[in-house]
Amino acid sequence: MTIEQLTQAIYVVSAALFILALKFMSEVRTARWGNWAGVLGMVLAVGGTLLRPEIIDYRWIAAALVIGSIIGAPMGLLMPMTAVPQRTALSHAFGALAAGLVGTAEFYLRGGALDAFSMGVLCLEVLLGYLTFTGSLLAFAKLQELIPTRPIVYPGRNYISLSVLGIAVLSGLYLVVNRGPAEVFGLLVGAALLFGVLLILPIGGADMPTVIAILNSYAGLSSAFMGFLLDNRLLIVAGALDGSSGLILSILMCKAMNRSFTNVLFGAFGQVRVSEAEKGRTVQAYTPQDAAAVLEMARSVVIVTGYGMAAAQAQHAVKELGDLLMGRGVDVKYAIHPVAGRMPGHMNVLLAEAGVPYDLLYEMDQINPLFPETDVALVVGANDITNPAARTKPDSPIYGMPILDVDKAKTVIFIKRGLGPGFAGIDNELFYLPQTMMVFGDAKKVVTEIIAALKG
Ligand code: TAP
Repeated sequence: MTIEQLTQAIYVVSAALFILALKFMSEVRTARWGNWAGVLGMVLAVGGTLLRPEIIDYRWIAAALVIGSIIGAPMGLLMPMTAVPQRTALSHAFGALAAGLVGTAEFYLRGGALDAFSMGVLCLEVLLGYLTFTGSLLAFAKLQELIPTRPIVYPGRNYISLSVLGIAVLSGLYLVVNRGPAEVFGLLVGAALLFGVLLILPIGGADMPTVIAILNSYAGLSSAFMGFLLDNRLLIVAGALDGSSGLILSILMCKAMNRSFTNVLFGAFGQVRVSEAEKGRTVQAYTPQDAAAVLEMARSVVIVTGYGMAAAQAQHAVKELGDLLMGRGVDVKYAIHPVAGRMPGHMNVLLAEAGVPYDLLYEMDQINPLFPETDVALVVGANDITNPAARTKPDSPIYGMPILDVDKAKTVIFIKRGLGPGFAGIDNELFYLPQTMMVFGDAKKVVTEIIAALKG
């Protein structure tokens, strides 16, 4: 077997492992195997590539490996679960930068000698690579709250963004026809970098998970184009898998929010609107001890968790409360909304981390028919995903978004710090209804106090 045949055989195995990884990750029970399949596939892919005869000097590669490990290992080991969205954004930024830099190197090494097809894929690789690089960095900065997370809007923003994209596309077309000059290539790179920034600025922080999935798919496509350019089939397969899975994930998220792609990308969603509280309406505030008394009398409780639980890191306290109630014979279920929190599977991950068994987690379609028979819906740090305006108010920005029907439960207990809106920036009608008890405070603190009251 020649080295080339060995490399190709390794590539086939690693492509199969990537496909298996995606398959395993589609279910909670097998997700860990999915991770390992992905890791093994990547180790094989890198190992197989290092065997290639084109590589004659390993020193730069060794240096890159050391630098990459120094940055990557702490990122993986030290970042808390709540920082996963921004960590993902950073990884995409680095991956996309790598694709952009490879395209740039190829342009300077053999730009004039490329045929029109290769120059076309090079331009697409560079365009997607660089716009994903700056876009992902900005997404990271918003999620890490280094810059304001609210949409940054200015007049004519969509025209300005599209004009910059137009410049990049025209530069690419010029390069395909003329294979140069370097100045036009520089214009393409500059416009792509700028477009990444302009694309993300008007998008609200909580739309970032959807945007990151879209950027993920751009980074994947960029790698696939790189595969065509370098004639590397594994890059084409891995890039296509990455591109399509990112796209499918973003479509699923848009569906769960009943929003379109264009609304996420260009809608500047999440600007705060006037709240009902400011219009003079009042809510009924209760203490954790009141909530404990109601929970003690309940026969069935559905716990609905949201972004506030993640922010307060209250998942362990929530699990303890659930266990305590179950110990007293209460039927306890956990309701999972597909876009609760700030990343796909956010609540599944946090509740699993706290040790809540999978069979107590109910998806939206399973739990909604059960709310009318539920004594208490206990909402911990969630807001938009429970807002009945999604069903009843056609002018609401979340109208049509599927929600958890907690308003149909006999009593609703909300635990949140105040009357702050959720990500959508709108008020929640449910706070003002007679069957609703508002218990104000940090989710972890309030849940801990409820536990203490129940024990006492
Ligand atoms: P939100 O509607 O954003 O509401 C979270 C609530 O938590 C806020 O109203 C806030 O109210 C409260 N809160 C914040 N910190 C808290 C703390 N320390 N203790 C207690 N409460 C706290 O969250 P949700 O119900 O989970 O809905 C998710 C939203 O994100 C949806 O609009 C969804 O469309 C959007 N989104 C999600 C995703 C994914 S993939 N998950 C992707 C894109 C968009 P106070 O300030 O009054 O405490």
